[in-house]
Formats: sequence, C-alpha cells, structure tokens
Amino acid sequence: MTDSLTVRDNRTGQEYDVPIVDGTIRAADLGKIKATEETPGLAVYDPGFVNTASCRSAVTYIDGEKGILEYRGYPIEQLAEKSNFLEVAYLLINGTLPSKAEYDAWVHEITYHTFVHENVKSFMEGFRYDAHPMGMLMASVGALSTFYPDARNISDADNRHMQMVRMIAKMPTLGAWSFRHAQGKPFVYPDNDLGYTANFLSMLFKMSEQKYEPDERLVKALDVLFILHADHEQNCSTNAVRSVGSSQVDPYSAVAAGVGALFGPLHGGANEAVLRMLRRIGSKENIPSFIDGVKNGNEKLMGFGHRVYKNYDPRAKIIKKSAEDVFEVTGTNPLLDIALELEKIALEDEYFVKRKLYPNVDFYSGLIYEAFQFPPEMFTVLFAIGRTPGWLAQWHELVQDKEQKIARPKQIYTGDRQLTFAPASERWR
Ligand code: CMC
Repeated sequence: MTDSLTVRDNRTGQEYDVPIVDGTIRAADLGKIKATEETPGLAVYDPGFVNTASCRSAVTYIDGEKGILEYRGYPIEQLAEKSNFLEVAYLLINGTLPSKAEYDAWVHEITYHTFVHENVKSFMEGFRYDAHPMGMLMASVGALSTFYPDARNISDADNRHMQMVRMIAKMPTLGAWSFRHAQGKPFVYPDNDLGYTANFLSMLFKMSEQKYEPDERLVKALDVLFILHADHEQNCSTNAVRSVGSSQVDPYSAVAAGVGALFGPLHGGANEAVLRMLRRIGSKENIPSFIDGVKNGNEKLMGFGHRVYKNYDPRAKIIKKSAEDVFEVTGTNPLLDIALELEKIALEDEYFVKRKLYPNVDFYSGLIYEAFQFPPEMFTVLFAIGRTPGWLAQWHELVQDKEQKIARPKQIYTGDRQLTFAPASERWR
C-alpha cells in the first residue's frame, strides 16, 4: 500500500500523486493542480473547517465515535476525579504533570497574580449597569495588554510564562467583578489564603463577613466543571485564539478574541437554552409531546448532539454525577427530574438512536450553575475561566510551531470585476 492519493484532473487528463501523511493531504499540494499555467491552482472550499486540519497539536485528543477525551494523554474521567484545575492547567500548558516543587511554585505564582491594577477596577466600574458580563470580560482581558506591554515579546519563553500565569490568575477576578457589577455590589478583592476556585466563589459571593468560607463540596464541583471545560482541541474559540495569535499579537489580545467567539450562542450559550427548554416542558407528563415536537422538526432537544461526539459526551457523564453532589448541598432542582426523564426517553427513542444523539456537556451544566445561583449570563463566563488554560496551551503551542504561518484563508470571489468608477459628482447628477 502506498501512502499517496492519485488525482486525475479531467480538465487536462493529467494525473498527480499527492502524499498522504497522518491521514491528511496538504492543501498546498492540490495548489499544484492547474487547468492551464495561467489559472490559479486547485483550492479546497471548506466553510466552517468541517474537514480541514489547521495544525498539529499534542494538547487534547478526542475520539468522538467512542466518546473519549484526553488532555495530554490523560483520560478526562481520571483528571476530573483525582486532579484539580490548577494541576490540569499546568499539564495542558507544559505537557507533563508537575513534580511537587513545580506544582507548589505554579500554585504560588498563580495565587500571587490574582490582583489586577486598580485602574482595571475603575474602567470596569464604567460599564453600563446592565452590561453583559461576557462583554465586560472580553474587554477587560483585551485591556490587560495595555497594562503589560512587555507581553508583545512573545519569542521570549520566560515572558510567555509570565503572561500565561497572569491570565489564568486574573480571569476569576475579572469574571467575578463582571458579575458583581451587574448586581450593583462592591468588588471583592482576591483572598490569597483560599485556593483558586474557593477564592473565585469568595469574589463572587462575599458580603460583610470577615472571611468567606465556601462549602468544600461546591468548591470541588466547580473545580471539576473548570477541568471539564479546560480544553476541547480546535473548537471555534480556540481557532479564534490561534488565528489572532498567528499575527504574533500579545496573548491578551488573542485570548480576548477567544472570549468573543465563546460568547456566541452556537458555542458557549447552549446550557442556558437547556434551562429555558426544561422550564418550558414544565413537568414529566409533557415530555412525550415535546419529544414528538422534536421528531416532527418543530423543536430541538437542546444539550443533545455534537459535531464530534457520536456517543455519550464523556464530560456529560461526569457533570451528571457532579449535579447530584451539588444538589446534596443546595437542595434539588425540580428541573433535574425532567432532565433525567427526558434523557431516558430520548436515549431509547429510534430518532435519537439512529442519529447518534446523546447528551453533551451542556445538558446538565446549566442546572448546576443555577444551583450556585448564577444568572444565565454568567454561565459562559464560567466556561471562559475554565477554557483559559486550554486557549493558552494552544497559543503556546502555536507560537513555537515552525510550520505555522499567519492564518489567511483563500476565498472564492463572487463579485464584479473591472467596473469603471464614476465620481459622485457625475453619478448623482
Ligand atoms: N435535537 C434534535 N435533532 C437533532 C439535534 C438536537 N439537539 N442535534 C442534531 N439533530 C438532528 C439533525 O436535525 C439532523 O437530523 P437529519 O439528519 O434528519 O437532518 C441530525 O441530527 C444531524 O445533525 P446536524 O445538525 O447535522 O449535526 P451538527 O454536527 O451540524 O450539529 C450541534 C451539532 C451541536 C450544533 C447540534 O447537535 C445541535 O444543535 N444541538 C443542540 C445545541 C447544543 O446542545 N449545543 C451544544 C454543543 S456542545 C458545547 C460546545 O462544544 O460548544
């Protein structure tokens, strides 16, 4: 067997051998195929990149048919059960698990960079009273590039490390302050005696008490949610970070682009839609008629189906378990019973079985966030905090990858050509 593809161009009758490497052909090799010397080479048309690999990556592995997700080779189930978010962040960025000394130094660095410049506070206070927290987060992450102009020096390894530490450390501060702003509550400064996730809860919910002491079970559940969202290979927001980062801009600007991409309802916003759907269904008795509506094409079962997973999303399984732990503390959410019954009925129904539609990460996460008393606008902010180490790991890989170039896709031009311009004074006579 030869690892190549023979392409016959029926316009010219000429045949080309295109090498196959790692299950891919190089689009540039197709560019050598031309109808005539003068015409442009053959290109690939792939809106949405449904079948285009844009990079080599050693960060995250997904097998959507089997429902497998691994960070740096470690199964997500083991990381969620036995690791913690900061250790996972270290793993994603550095590629290996830390030694005790490395872990301690990492946690120390992240902890002592949680504060932001006082001017960040002033400009966050300047947002309108009803500003969406994702818009505030996107703007304030981007603004950090003005506080750390040295971040533009992306070819220096120590400098890159410093910016990654800063960003992971400051995201919860910016996220929590976006939330407090919408509530009209004073901003709470970081408490560096607390762990990463506990400190985030403190900045969100602390009021007049001397010290905020979150329930450890809630801290663990949120930490697990951060781990589950930490990376998902070349998704829309990661592609945005890589695309913007490919211009060699500083990492704050690149990650701000990722936050913007995540803000969109097709990406980070489905968990909110699940909650709305469960509320609309209202009670278990209404599930069969809702399912009929889905099968007739009048409804969509939100939180089901995935472009990559054609099996149970491994993150959804873990979240389902976390939901039980959280409800032990907060009391159950009546919508959980509807969700469980909906899942049971859907998984047995021919329509969903045939199309390989299973619960995805968003099916249960909104229920947990609601139990924490987060308003729906905050759900995507939580996703962004979790995803930050993944964005940075992918950015870090990109800037060191000699094969990478500035992202610059081709187009198929469909407009006019060679028109003759008449100045306004002639056109408007
Ligand atoms: N409910 C009902 N039918 C569905 C659903 C659903 N949630 N998802 C897909 N289908 C049907 C779809 O109508 C199509 O049927 P047919 O072959 O008869 O035309 C078939 O299944 C294949 O679907 P598709 O739209 O071609 O699949 P896709 O890969 O383009 O879309 C998706 C993936 C996630 C956008 C889609 O499944 C969906 O809209 N799900 C609901 C929204 C949701 O939960 N999104 C969260 C995704 S996970 C978070 C993240 O990674 O950002």
